[in-house]
Amino acid sequence: MDKLQIDGGRRLEGTIAIAGAKNAALPQIAASLLSPHALTLTNLPQVGDVANMLSVVGRHGVAVNVAGPHTATLNAGPANHVEAPYDLVRKMRATVLVLGPLVARFGRARVSLPGGCAIGARPIDLHMKVLAQLGASVAVESGYIVAEALSGLAGARIVLASPSVGATQTAMMAATYATGETEIVNAAGEPEVADLAACLAAMGANIEGAGTHRIAVQGPTNWRAARHHTIPDRIEAGTYAMAAAITRGHLELTGARLEHLGALAQMLETVGARMWPTDRGLMVACDGRVAAADISTEPYPGFPTDLQAQYMALMAVADGACAIRETIFENRFMHVPELVRMGADISLRGSTALVRGRTKLVGAPVMATDLRASVCLVLAGLAAEGQTTVSRVYHLDRGYEDLARKLVRCGAAIRRVPE
Ligand code: EPZ
Repeated sequence: MDKLQIDGGRRLEGTIAIAGAKNAALPQIAASLLSPHALTLTNLPQVGDVANMLSVVGRHGVAVNVAGPHTATLNAGPANHVEAPYDLVRKMRATVLVLGPLVARFGRARVSLPGGCAIGARPIDLHMKVLAQLGASVAVESGYIVAEALSGLAGARIVLASPSVGATQTAMMAATYATGETEIVNAAGEPEVADLAACLAAMGANIEGAGTHRIAVQGPTNWRAARHHTIPDRIEAGTYAMAAAITRGHLELTGARLEHLGALAQMLETVGARMWPTDRGLMVACDGRVAAADISTEPYPGFPTDLQAQYMALMAVADGACAIRETIFENRFMHVPELVRMGADISLRGSTALVRGRTKLVGAPVMATDLRASVCLVLAGLAAEGQTTVSRVYHLDRGYEDLARKLVRCGAAIRRVPE
């Protein structure tokens, strides 16, 4: 296992290329199981979770041809294996996204329940309900979801109890095989949902309304070979935008799309940073100490839960106090004790963190616990006095391509060393 050694206090100035979106790529790789024809995905991020998902669909019989660091051609013609075992699913919860495609195309699926995850229980009851509403029989048997639809799926009107990103994606993918119209109401509106719909449409599916809270799918689908270019990663872009703010520097984020940053762009303006579009992406600049401002995480286009930890690092050195409320996951404050070890003044009241900005943080050895908590500690280390050592950086490798190198090229002092 490696760790990152960060010597803080240096302004970031320069350009960072934003990679493809991990959370768009994962469902698109799962979607390859739906079609007997080839799907070529470009702009895939070179991160652990994507490599993991490619091996997952490979285990289901998909021929995976990695044609370059950011391109893969997936041919599910030969796919025939319908079981996703516990040892795979427990490593990456998103493996559950193969459930919909498997039961839709093959009439059967046996996928391990994902088990808990660091940030919360993260049940998949909504995924199971959606498949049952489309006509599958769904049961849990000794830790596995067993879904069957031997006489196929039928279109239905699905009203999601909450705008779950994954359940919306499961519903869209399964509905491509359901006869007639499927309507998904209270659908998640995240850009990654719209991008999955664009990928499915390229493959031959008939989908309208993706990106809004009402999606209509006409099935069954006449599949065809397709290519799809994955959207840029708005969470990576938001992370580096806050790196610019916390170091009072300026960064051009090439490939980033300002319209995907939603509430974060407004918050950064509110606290004193500036963001504007450029012909290559967007620019973020911050001349001084940011001011404190409250946030509450919300479904898109509200403030993304995946940027909550990073924002807390920024608020730890802000001028003033603020409340950060986490409404999506029940345990997404594991970065707090680590930030406190660096001198942050944070106290927790249930799902709200009260942060009193300090004029400085002090470098310390800290431990990453999940993907976004680990990058929060890197941001804090960039601003802290002295050296911060972030251990268990394998969490980072799951979702950030070349993070240390990208930051070093903009002036950060970061070394990746063995633990
Ligand atoms: C996606 O997870 C993302 N992952 C998460 O990013 C992101 O935090 C989340 O959406 C919210 O934006 C991928 O896209 C691979 P949800 P997902 O279903 O689909 C509850 C990261 O760091 N829920 O919208 O699992 C759930 O427990 C990751 O990149 C149910 O109760 O999120 C949570 O409280 C972390 N039952 C809430 O809904 C269900 O069946 C939102 O979950 C499904 C979800």
